[in-house]
Parts: sequence; structure tokens; C-alpha cells
Amino acid sequence: MKYPLIKNNILRQDLDEIIQHLKKDDPILTNGPKVREFEEAWNKWLGTKFSIFVNSGSSANLLSLTLLKIKYPDGGEVIVPPFTWVSDIASVIQCGFTPVFADIDLDTLAMNFNEIKKKVNSKTKAIFLSHIQGLNGISESLLELASSKNIELIEDVCESHGAKHKDIKVGNFGWTSNFSFYYAHHMSTIEGGMISTNNEETYENLRMLRSHGMVREMTNEKYKIKYLKNNNQLNEKFIFFYPAYNFRNTEIGAIMGLSQLKRLDDNIYNRNENFKYFLDKIDQNKYFKDFNLLGSSNYAFNLILNDKDKEYMDRLCSNLEKFGIEFRKGSAGGGNQLRQPYLSNYIKEKEYNDYEVTEHVHFYGMYLGNYPELQKDDIDYIVDKINI
Ligand SMILES: Cc1ncc(COP(=O)(O)O)c(C=O)c1O
Repeated sequence: MKYPLIKNNILRQDLDEIIQHLKKDDPILTNGPKVREFEEAWNKWLGTKFSIFVNSGSSANLLSLTLLKIKYPDGGEVIVPPFTWVSDIASVIQCGFTPVFADIDLDTLAMNFNEIKKKVNSKTKAIFLSHIQGLNGISESLLELASSKNIELIEDVCESHGAKHKDIKVGNFGWTSNFSFYYAHHMSTIEGGMISTNNEETYENLRMLRSHGMVREMTNEKYKIKYLKNNNQLNEKFIFFYPAYNFRNTEIGAIMGLSQLKRLDDNIYNRNENFKYFLDKIDQNKYFKDFNLLGSSNYAFNLILNDKDKEYMDRLCSNLEKFGIEFRKGSAGGGNQLRQPYLSNYIKEKEYNDYEVTEHVHFYGMYLGNYPELQKDDIDYIVDKINI
């Protein structure tokens, strides 16, 4: 591929930092002080009080929903977009909640506020918002709705590190917020993810859930004491309070994360500049250009046809293939999740038709790689193969 979805996201300097660590006598490799250092650095960068480093964005999603299940053991409904990653919906189902879908807006690719409002009822326990491809999905009305109805907001920021709402980084608005550091994302720890929160008790619980439900993972005695009570027949080091998971990451991942964090802001700047240049050049008669870029932190070149023109879409795909430009049809997560087999037992037949905007992106949308080292010449080349 001349232009893959991502290039050189992990650099020599990241690997050298790891090698330095490995050269030490008997280096710690499992979750240890470097993980804590990375979590602290992440809090500083994001502006949150607490974070835990996990082994993927999907694990972060599952931990958030596991925590919701502890809060609401009888389950309930969680509002999710049909346009997101599989694990945003799978985690809802895995934790015994019912996913209720709200269609998206084209300009933010996030759930439309009125669609969310229509779906809220007494059974709604959370709104699980996805910030897609670097665009901010938060609005004041959404924050007001969630707080007035006492509904938890969970943010999926896996594709949008550094996006902002009113100058505050997204990931600060949710009860929990979930990030991915998978290879093609804004920064990478190979595999990896982070959950951030501003609530200390939530953080302490997440620490426990990340490590087999073990009480010893909690750092604050104030919260720990409640879990130790009535368990004095057990070794304090081995009290498994919840049936949980092992979602820990390692010192190696944390060293890479610390190294990557140093250039995250520069990379975001380059990606944003690239996207603006790209948008400026693509043919407005053919492509949707009115993305809401306020506070955005671009992840990929979004390309959505204005018209439902299958013949043009096919020609575009052939042209991109011919000239070695990698793309993902259907855009984030492959398009409309309601068309995926894993959901067939949970939704009504052909329910995917109810989500018109998502359906449009599913058939007439795609994304192409936008990585920091792309130059204007490269974008000109790509645009030339798009404006056909
Ligand atoms: C919106 C969104 N959520 C969650 C994930 C899952 O992250 P991971 O691949 O680290 O499990 C992704 C993955 O790309 C994603 O795009």
C-alpha cells in the first residue's frame, strides 16, 4: 500500500526506551511502577483525577459496563449508537443490559440529541456515547439530560484522544471514559487502553475489577475497609470480591505509552491540519464537508458521499485500490452494527433500516488513513484519486 491506514505509529525512540528498561538488572515487567507513572502522566495530559491502564479499549468498555452492573444488578437499558465499535454494544449485552439505539448526526458522527431524548425512559441506566474519528460528541443538552435524569454518561474516546468540548478534553465528562491505544490510534502501546474518571470510589473499584476483583488492588483504606469486613477468615491478599477479569497491562506497554505521550499533541496538530487541507480539496458536489470541527482531534480522513450513488462508490473504491490507498468501507467499526450477525438475536428483524444516517454512512461512507507524517503532496495525490 502506498498510503496505508497508519504508518510509523511506533518509532525507534519508543523501542529504545523499552530496550533501556530491559538492560536493567532484573527489570520489573508486569504491572508496576511504570504503569502508575503512565497513569499519572495520562491524568495530567487529560485533566482527569484517576486513570487505570488496561490491555485494550474493549477491556475499558467492558470494565465500565461491569461497574454499571454492580450499581444496577437488575440491569436496565443503555443507549448506544448503531455507529460505533462492536465492543461498545457487546459489553452492554455481556453485562446483562439491553442496548437501545439512537441514530447519529452526520456532522459529529455521534448520537443525535433528540434521538437520545426519545429513547430515555425510567429503565435507562446509562448513555454510552462514542466520539467517532476525533469529533466531539458532547453537547450541553446531553450533559443536562443525563444529570437531570440521573443517568450515567460513559464516554468512548477510543478514536478521539484530545478532542474537546468547550476547551475541556472529552473524557472528563463521563462517569468513566474509555480510550484505546491500539496500533492505528492517536497513540499506541501496541495493544492497550485506559479508563479515566474523576470519582475516587469509581477508580478504586475499577482497580479491583481490572485485577480479578481482588480487594488488595484498592489503594485507599477508606474504601477498602468495607470490602474487608466480614471476610476475616480469608487471607487479606486473596479476597476476590467480584467475579472479574485480568485486564492489566505491563511495564513495557507503560514505557511505550510514556514515550508516545511526549509527541501526542504534535501529532494531533498535524492530523488536524491534514484533515482541514483534505476537506478543503475534496469535491463538495460529491462529498459531505460540513463536519463540526469545533474541538476535533482528527483520527482519519472521513469520506461520505452526498448522494446514494452506488455506481460512483464502486468506482471510487476501485480507484483507491488501483492507486494503493487503503480505506475502510462503512467507516468506523464497519458501519451499521445492527447489520452484524452478533446482534441478530437482540433486535427486531431489519431494525437497521430505522437508522437512516447510519445506513447512509454504512453504504456511502469510508475512512482513509490520516497519519502525522503525511505531507500536502501526499494529500494532493490522494485527493486526485478521490475527485473522480
Ligand atoms: C470507537 C471504538 N471503541 C472501542 C474500540 C476498541 O479498542 P481496542 O481495539 O483497543 O479494543 C475501538 C477500536 O478501534 C474503537 O474505534
